[in-house]
Amino acid sequence: MKPVRKAVLPVAGLGTRVLPGTKTVAKELLNVVDRPILSYVVAEARAAGIEHFVFVTGRGKGAIEDYFDHHIELEAQLKAKGKTDLLEEILSELPKAGEMSFIRQMQPLGLGHAVWCARDVVGDEPFAVMLPDMLMEGPTPPLAQAVKAHEETQGNIIVVEPCPPGEAHKYGVVALESQSGRLNRMTGMVEKPPKGTEPSNLFISGRYVLEPEIFAILESQEKGAGGEIQLTDAMARLMKTRPFHALEYEGVTYDCGDKIGLLRANVALALKRPDLGAEARAAVEALLKA
Ligand code: G1P
Repeated sequence: MKPVRKAVLPVAGLGTRVLPGTKTVAKELLNVVDRPILSYVVAEARAAGIEHFVFVTGRGKGAIEDYFDHHIELEAQLKAKGKTDLLEEILSELPKAGEMSFIRQMQPLGLGHAVWCARDVVGDEPFAVMLPDMLMEGPTPPLAQAVKAHEETQGNIIVVEPCPPGEAHKYGVVALESQSGRLNRMTGMVEKPPKGTEPSNLFISGRYVLEPEIFAILESQEKGAGGEIQLTDAMARLMKTRPFHALEYEGVTYDCGDKIGLLRANVALALKRPDLGAEARAAVEALLKA
């Protein structure tokens, strides 16, 4: 079986849930504590063994490429001022030459279409999809859990988590053959099920390991929920011939494409930081008492 070496990150979305800031700043570059959301997602991918990052971008997202490139003046300044720690931190995030590809989606036709745009760079091997709005943490990085499950099952993996009551209609939802432990064979999935029709309380939370056969299906995929070309619909078609398992991963998700999700991420990650945790706790407690 071929290893999972590439990750597709769809980053063309407009970030309408966190406007007006995202009018000029890519939502994936909004800071959580002191670094962009995307920086955490790329670190999670690296920890899962990903060697090549395929960003599917759109108009106005050029700053994402700049973030993962040298900033000559800044680096010179930091060096001249002896701020070597900061300089090293900035340099440590840079990709090796040729490790990142950027593809323009050109039209916002849906997640399935965004993934399809990456077909030539991914080629004929299993690959990860990571929705960068979703900042995910766990005892082992969530994508690494998915890659391990892919090795175990030799098939497609969708990372899922229990949905807060009444929220399932906002997501893709999976149906399981039976439920025992965290990794279960799937029998179906549906994108944005009407309230009361969801097949389980497990929603698709933003990490996938897929086989390359998905691309041929996406090529002819018709529009689905919301008038968009849905990845969920293409996966449901692939499931007719290939196994899919849902992995209820160990960890926490922060939906950073949402105002309160972004706030939660900032507070939670600041509290956990060895250098900031105590000060962050004091600040939050003072606010709660005010
Ligand atoms: C997408 C997926 C959906 C998934 C969700 C997670 O939907 O299509 O299956 O549950 O991300 O955030 P979107 O948020 O783009 O509507």
